[in-house]
Amino acid sequence: MFPTTDLFAEPIQSGRLQLGPATWLLRGFAQPWIDTLLAELRLIEAAAPFRHMHTPGGLRMSVAQTNCGPLGWISDRHGYRYSPTDPDTGQPWPPLPPAFRQLAEQAAATAGFPGFLPDACLINRYLPGTRLSLHQDKDERDFTAPIVSVSLGLPAVFQFGGMRRADKPERVSLLHGDVLVWGGEDRLRYHGVLALKDGQHPLLGAQRINLTFRRAG
Ligand code: SIN
Ligand code: FE2
Repeated sequence: MFPTTDLFAEPIQSGRLQLGPATWLLRGFAQPWIDTLLAELRLIEAAAPFRHMHTPGGLRMSVAQTNCGPLGWISDRHGYRYSPTDPDTGQPWPPLPPAFRQLAEQAAATAGFPGFLPDACLINRYLPGTRLSLHQDKDERDFTAPIVSVSLGLPAVFQFGGMRRADKPERVSLLHGDVLVWGGEDRLRYHGVLALKDGQHPLLGAQRINLTFRRAG
């Protein structure tokens, strides 16, 4: 007889994939933290609900966003910037949970960036059909710290471009539990996310949540 629970029926992807001189995809790296991340996310979302920000040009972003940590990334008609308070509530952003900090620090160290101390965590929520167009993360004060990006829920196709918007991006799938770290000479590479395909994730349903940790201030 075969056992009824086959540990290998749904292998958790693991391993490290180098996508650039200073860019590592750490498959499944966040798996040990998932339950805590999701519990903390519910608390953050209750205090600082997801909202659709507007670009400086006035376009409503299709991805819904919130933040935790001392600084939060915001966008409105005055531009892109970091703010210590949530413009919707006037309150400080919810604190960075210790588990978030620990995951970000360990992922960064694994990718060659020891001592990463994030002071901002932008949380993006993608529903099917939503996308994030190619952009650089350049609103941070210095670019010596990497970006640490954690994927949860439905899979997405990440576009990883070059230093110029016109450089043809490579495509890589980001799966539930994956952590992508880019820094050093790759820190200002253009990147984006293609329109999310419809689906149902066992823990998150029809959505993808992305946490991006930054050293902003
Ligand atoms: C971002 O570039 O801010 C988010 C990337 C992602 O959702 O994977
Ligand atoms: Fe980004």
